[in-house]
Amino acid sequence: MKNIVILISGTGSNMQAIVNANIEGARIAAVISNQETAKGIAWAKEKGIKTAVLNHQDFVSREGFDSVLMKEIDQHQPDLVVLAGFMRILTPAFTNHYEERLMNIHPSLLPSFTGLHTHQRAIDMGCKIAGATVHFVTSELDHGPIIAQQAVAIEDQDDAETLAAKVLKIEHQIYPKAVADFVSGSLKVEGLRVLNVQKAHS
Ligand code: GRF
Repeated sequence: MKNIVILISGTGSNMQAIVNANIEGARIAAVISNQETAKGIAWAKEKGIKTAVLNHQDFVSREGFDSVLMKEIDQHQPDLVVLAGFMRILTPAFTNHYEERLMNIHPSLLPSFTGLHTHQRAIDMGCKIAGATVHFVTSELDHGPIIAQQAVAIEDQDDAETLAAKVLKIEHQIYPKAVADFVSGSLKVEGLRVLNVQKAHS
């Protein structure tokens, strides 16, 4: 059984998709938030999942917060840490500690549109497609090895809100699949590429 710890800051709809996928061989060991009011925390509690809240505002430095967060996470002996709308920039000490066992989902087709406001920026640049990316996290923001991506069309009538809704829908498909591929041991990292070993053999 692989232990998974999920970090959230808000609704946690990606966390819900991962929990609801009932991934074979995976156990959701805990859901941790930096926001007490995160809706996803209430949802996880209701499901009987262990939860914890660690407010970053209680810490004077980013390093101090990350170090306590690591201790909280490591109590659960995680095989994989999943960032699901966790709105914090993480220190290299944190990202190095979880090297190749820390995943994130980003609402753009990386390497385009790292950072915030991805949907409005894609529309403003005249892109005809947008999408989502699941990647391993490195110390460089939104830049780690890409595990999965899926595109959606940007239609003339789309605005940032309608595009965000379309992208979120595909996030809920590709993130549980990427976690399942990790759990089954199918992912092999080679530099910035992530190969799906099982797919190659089937
Ligand atoms: C998602 O769009 C994700 O890509 C981004 O933050 C949002 C989180 O949504 N990192 P939710 O909390 O999973 O509903």
